[in-house]
Amino acid sequence: MGLVKTSFVFVGVLFLSTLLLCSADDHHYEFFVRERNFTKLCNTTTLLVVNDSYPGPEIRVHRGDTVFVNVHNQGNYGFTVHWHGVKQPRNPWSDGPEFITQCPIQPGTNFTYEVVLSDEIGTLWWHAHSDWTRGSVQGAFVILPAENETYPFPTPDADQTIMLQSWYNGDYKQIIDQALATGIPPRQPDAYAINGNLGDTTGCPNDTMFRMQVDYEKTYHLRIINSAMNEEKFFAIMNHTLTVVGQDASYVERFTTDYILISPGQTMDVLVAANQNAGQYYMATRPFSDSAATPVDLITTGVFEYTNSAGGLNASLITLPARNDTNATSSFLSRIRNTNVTQNPPLNVPANSDINRRVYIAIATNNLPCNTSQCLVQSRIVASLNNVSFVFPRIDILQAYYNRSTGVYTEDFPLNPPVFYDFTGNLTDLNPGAGTGTRAVMLNYGDAVEIVLQATQLGAGGSHPIHLHGFSFYRVGTGVGNFNNQTDPSTYNLVDPPLINTVHVPGRGWVALRFFADNPGVWFMHCHFERHSSWGMDTVFIVRNGTTTETSIRPPPSGMPSCT
Ligand code: C2O
Ligand code: CU
Repeated sequence: MGLVKTSFVFVGVLFLSTLLLCSADDHHYEFFVRERNFTKLCNTTTLLVVNDSYPGPEIRVHRGDTVFVNVHNQGNYGFTVHWHGVKQPRNPWSDGPEFITQCPIQPGTNFTYEVVLSDEIGTLWWHAHSDWTRGSVQGAFVILPAENETYPFPTPDADQTIMLQSWYNGDYKQIIDQALATGIPPRQPDAYAINGNLGDTTGCPNDTMFRMQVDYEKTYHLRIINSAMNEEKFFAIMNHTLTVVGQDASYVERFTTDYILISPGQTMDVLVAANQNAGQYYMATRPFSDSAATPVDLITTGVFEYTNSAGGLNASLITLPARNDTNATSSFLSRIRNTNVTQNPPLNVPANSDINRRVYIAIATNNLPCNTSQCLVQSRIVASLNNVSFVFPRIDILQAYYNRSTGVYTEDFPLNPPVFYDFTGNLTDLNPGAGTGTRAVMLNYGDAVEIVLQATQLGAGGSHPIHLHGFSFYRVGTGVGNFNNQTDPSTYNLVDPPLINTVHVPGRGWVALRFFADNPGVWFMHCHFERHSSWGMDTVFIVRNGTTTETSIRPPPSGMPSCT
């Protein structure tokens, strides 16, 4: 078995290096991060943003390139930036999550990230990775085919980024700081946005609607990013069929649909042909939720506008699945399959006989006594994985691991739920408490890993978008109810499972993921609902070095932000 595993890993490394041989370029970006006023919803709000824009600047490079981003903090508090979905082989130092791989960039200082692309293709994004700052510090990360490489579909006439966002009147950091101090859940967003525009339904004269100009008979590549804080989203363009071609920077088997479902953190590449009567058509988005804590059900509009057309917008023609339409969600997700085009990395799904690391994780929200001086309630909401509510340390885990310093984290994250209850049943009698800790899962280089994520009905229940840094993983299985390790593995799709970095764990259900741990480093895993992550729905996977330099973490760059 050892031999088989090694050869799989070898194929992966070989593939990356052939890609990198064909003329990878270096790119340099400067991010100046400071506060600026924005007027929306008849209200002026101060936001921390990059280069004065919301959303921030787009990074646009080719597959296999390396991007240096010099981040200058000209704001009032520390933060970090993460390159969501970029695997950063051997380079966790530039991954970004605060207190996991680095300490915050302090006001008046700067730090240059080295963002190392390998086989990612299509669309990713970047965002702040401290408290809730990612609500305003965010932008698209476009990865075009390498030179001499084509798309696995007719080359689109143009592309367009579509960021689906949450909008709050007020500072994102204050909202979560106050919620955590008082023990009260953070408030709901005041609106949703498309590329910073709130649409035509707010009733405020200053609010703008995103307009995408299109020419009749041209085909457009939409790069759709869910950068909202706590909401999964449906998205559709009236009268137009969407063709899904990629997800999370990997191509998928093409399929057509009237709407997509996209979870926070996920990205989707979608083709749309401007083949209807020239006119103006709404694009629209609304949240999906199967939790008892439902997001505000607002439809946010934009326009798909044929050149030289006028009028025709009619809000009563907007069709989208209902906010709680779980069938619409699962039928869309079941259609996403991997594709064997040569532009994708060769399928490298760990086989049953390879798996030597199994982790079964129950996801929950819980209650603990409120213990701050500002508590407004007796018990505060926390969240947990395997009943551990994650506590962020004050020194980053990567530094502690690299320098072998003790007292920052422990290496004993539970590999199974501490108690097996009826996770998806009626849980009214269950003790909602949780333990706290900074506990990591340790993996050896090359381990073949299977993670089963189990949603539970503890707390509000519902779905969770779980994101793993440092990897893309195969989504090999999913089901309703409690995972059964005897019968469910026989239903796995090991033939064409999608390769993704953020997975929708269905409410009252589970998903199974597989990957080879071929990237040494310290990698965060967390719910991409920001309030869940803030409440402790997080853990860390540490992949130990292999035996060679090529299988070991690079040494730290100079200029890492200091922790004091
Ligand atoms: Cu999109 Cu840990 O992040
Ligand atoms: Cu969650």
